[in-house]
Amino acid sequence: MKRYKDFASDGGSNIVGQVVDQQTRLRSRLASVKHTVAVMSGKGGVGKSAVTVNLASALSLQGYRLGILDADINGPSIAKMTGIQRSAFSIQHSAFKNGLPPAIGFLGLRVISMDLFLPDEKTPVTWDAPTQKEAYVWRGTMEMTTLREFLTDTEWGDLDYLLIDLPPGTDRLPNIAGLLPQLSGTLILTIPSEVSQAVVKKSITLAKEHLKTPVIGLIENMKGYACPHCGNIGELFHSSGILACEEMAKNLGIPYLGSIPFDPRISLTTDVGKPFMSEFGDSPAAKAIIEIAEKIKTFIL
Ligand SMILES: Nc1ncnc2c1ncn2[C@@H]1O[C@H](COP(=O)(O)OP(=O)(O)O)[C@@H](O)[C@H]1O
Ligand SMILES: [Mg+2]
Repeated sequence: MKRYKDFASDGGSNIVGQVVDQQTRLRSRLASVKHTVAVMSGKGGVGKSAVTVNLASALSLQGYRLGILDADINGPSIAKMTGIQRSAFSIQHSAFKNGLPPAIGFLGLRVISMDLFLPDEKTPVTWDAPTQKEAYVWRGTMEMTTLREFLTDTEWGDLDYLLIDLPPGTDRLPNIAGLLPQLSGTLILTIPSEVSQAVVKKSITLAKEHLKTPVIGLIENMKGYACPHCGNIGELFHSSGILACEEMAKNLGIPYLGSIPFDPRISLTTDVGKPFMSEFGDSPAAKAIIEIAEKIKTFIL
């Protein structure tokens, strides 16, 4: 039987060399990406993926080259939201030599998502382990390994912005920030309800104080209901007794980037892979998204 002193070396695997090699590859892959922006939220379902896709669309319509890394390994939705057919990707994927080419969605958006590697819509992500119970123990590590591989293998080409759609909650940002050589900043998304705001404060504290990554600002989604018939904006969430998001951002010392109204046409288009920003570019929600995109550009430049 081997004893601990037999393992004092790396047993010939050159693990340090492998890690350094992977880091070098990751840096060279991302050398062609000008700005990397992480999008986070405290809670799920606040519209993080939809807003990420629509911000990317707004920038793409202005001529910027955009990529989206769907880092929500267990709830991937970016491929579907950008109109990518899984089958088209697998053909392209099988031909890769120097790197993994991202799938191309509408408006030329380049996308990598776990979704593209699953056989169909109903299959969940499962990890290789003797039992799924054991896989649960390793889940965090395996998710991060997958993300690291996505980052090291994807041949993005020249990009102006790479947006990273993080899973909800605060636990993945430290790992992502650790993986990326440079993160231009994080966007934090919330909705105007008390529960969401309480959770979002945790995300801000984490991004700002613990990770020292620049917080580009707070985006308030689903603020009011924009009636597609009369154009009037009505309240969607009960808001009495809670701090307005703008005030919350001010108190927390981060920029407030603006609000996006609830517009059913966002889910009608985005959820089925149609470009909301080009189909309803004149709507108040699209205009709000364009304004927010402008503020992001100004922050980064
Ligand atoms: N401003 C909005 N108006 C209308 N529907 C929205 C808006 N923002 C998001 N949605 C819809 O809400 C649902 C949840 O959004 P999603 O982006 O999947 O949330 P998350 O990524 O935060 O879990 C989707 O159906 C999406 O199209
Ligand atoms: Mg999502």
